[in-house]
Amino acid sequence: MFEAVSIASRGSARVLVLGQFKGEKLDTNSKKLDVSGAAASAAERAESTGDLGSIAEGFPAEGHERVIVVGLGERDGFVPSRLRTAAGAVARALSKAKAVSADLAVHAALARLPKSAKVDLHACGSAMGEGLGIASWNYDTLRGSATAEKDRTKLALHCDDAKFKGGLTRGLGLAEGTNIARTLSQTPPNIATPMWIAGEAKKMARKAGLKCTVFQGKKLEDERFTGLLEVGKASENKPCMVRLEYTPTRGKTKDPVVLVGKTITYDSGGLSIKISGGMRGMKRDKDGGCAIFGAMHSIATVIKPNRPVVALLMCAENSISDEAYRPDDVIEFRNGVTVEVTNTDAEGRLVLADGLCWACEKESPAAIVDMATLTGGVVVALGSTYAGMWCDDDGLRATLDDAAQASDERVWRLPHHPEYRQLMRSPIADIHNSAPVRQAHPIQGAAFLSYFVEDGIPWAHVDIAGTHSTDKESGPFIAGPTGFGARLVSEMVERF
Ligand code: BES
Ligand code: ZN
Ligand code: ZN
Repeated sequence: MFEAVSIASRGSARVLVLGQFKGEKLDTNSKKLDVSGAAASAAERAESTGDLGSIAEGFPAEGHERVIVVGLGERDGFVPSRLRTAAGAVARALSKAKAVSADLAVHAALARLPKSAKVDLHACGSAMGEGLGIASWNYDTLRGSATAEKDRTKLALHCDDAKFKGGLTRGLGLAEGTNIARTLSQTPPNIATPMWIAGEAKKMARKAGLKCTVFQGKKLEDERFTGLLEVGKASENKPCMVRLEYTPTRGKTKDPVVLVGKTITYDSGGLSIKISGGMRGMKRDKDGGCAIFGAMHSIATVIKPNRPVVALLMCAENSISDEAYRPDDVIEFRNGVTVEVTNTDAEGRLVLADGLCWACEKESPAAIVDMATLTGGVVVALGSTYAGMWCDDDGLRATLDDAAQASDERVWRLPHHPEYRQLMRSPIADIHNSAPVRQAHPIQGAAFLSYFVEDGIPWAHVDIAGTHSTDKESGPFIAGPTGFGARLVSEMVERF
C-alpha cells in the first residue's frame, strides 16, 4: 500500500474518483466533473454494478489520466459508514495503479441524496479518510534480507468540497490513531514488553503534546498496584502503568474522562497455562491498551476536546517461573478488596482492577471506560461483529452508542446483575477471579471489575476479545489487528 496518505494543498491530481449508486447511471453532478465522458461509459460497463466497493476504471482522452468509479450500494439507506468500505476498494485500486494523487469527488454523487437522508458531508469525508488511512496500513518493519523491498508511493488527496475535505483530514487523523494501535498490536512480544510500551508512549506523548508518567518498581509497591505486581512477577519483563494525560488549551476546568486499558504484552495463561493452540496470538492481549494509546494520539491531534482525558495503560506479561503467582493465592487490592486467585489465566481483570481503583481514588473521573481482550466467551457470544459492553449509566451508554454508530466499531450491551456479583464471591476471600462454574464468563469478568469501581461514577467495560483482530480482509482492513476501540473512544470523548 502507500507509504503515506496526505491532503494536498495545491496542484492537480492524475486520478479522478467518483461514486455510483447501485443500479444507477452516473449522476448529473458527477457527469459535470467527467469532462471526457470516460467515467459515464465506465459506469455503464457490466462490472460497474454500484454494489458497495465495486470498481470500474476509465481512461479519459483529456483531463485526468484515469477515472475510478466506486460503488456506493443502494441509494436508499445510505450511511456515511459505507464510505469506509468504498475507500478500502478505492485505496486498493489506486495502489495497483501506482497513483500518486487522486481527486476525491465521491461527494458529487452524495449531494443529490434527499435532505431527509441527512447525510452530513463532513461525516462522509471522515469515513472516507478513515477508510483510506486504514487501508494504507502495513507492517513491514520485521522483513529481513530475504524479502525484496517494496517501493511505496505517497498518495496526495485533492478535494474541492470544503466540508468533505475537512472530514477527510479528521478521518486521516482517526485512522492514524487506529494504525498506531495496529502497529503496537502487531509488534511481537519479544520486542513489545511493558517497558517498551512505556518508551513508545513517551515518544508519542512528546510528539502529540501529552503528559506521560510511567509507574514502575517501588512506586507500584508503594501505591499497592497488586494486580500488576502479581500478574507480572514471573516475567523478567517487569510490569508498569503508563499514565497519559491530555489537557485542553483552556486548562483543567472539568473532570477528566479516564480510559483504562488491559495491556498484557503476552498471555501464556501463567501457571494455569493455555493449551498450545490457545496461546498463539496472545501477543494481542495488549490490544485494549493499544487502542487507548492510539485514541490518545487522535484525541491530542484531531479531536482536541474541551475536557481533560487520562489514559491508564496496565502493562504486564503473564508468564511462568518459580516466582509466578498461583491458583490458590489470596491477594489484597488498594481498595481493601481481597481476591482468591482461582485461575491465573483470568489475569486481565486483576490488572484492570488496579487501574479502576486508581482512577476512582486519584483522578476524580467524570466517567471511566475500560477496554480489554478479557474473555474468550465474548468471542463465542458476539463473534467479531460487536464488542461486549457493560454500562448501567444511561448518559455514558448513549454517548458510547452514538460513538459506535459514527465509528462503526459496534458495541452490544450485556447485563450487570447482583446475581453475577454473587457468583464472584469466594468461600475464603471477598471474591475470586474466576467462578468454579463455566457460566457467563464475559459477565463474570464485568461483575469482578464492578468490585473496583466506586458507586456513582459512570463506568463502561468493553470486552474487545472478538473484535480486536480479523482473520480475513474486511472493508478497509487486511487480516490482522483492527485497532478496534481507538476510533470508538475518540468519538466518545468528542461527544462527552
Ligand atoms: N486474554 C484472554 C482472553 C482472550 C481469549 C483474548 C481469546 C483474545 C482471544 C484472557 O486473559 C483469558 O485467558 N480469559 C479466560 C478467562 C477464564 C480463565 C475465566 C477465558 O476467556 O478463557
Ligand atoms: Zn488469560
Ligand atoms: Zn488475557
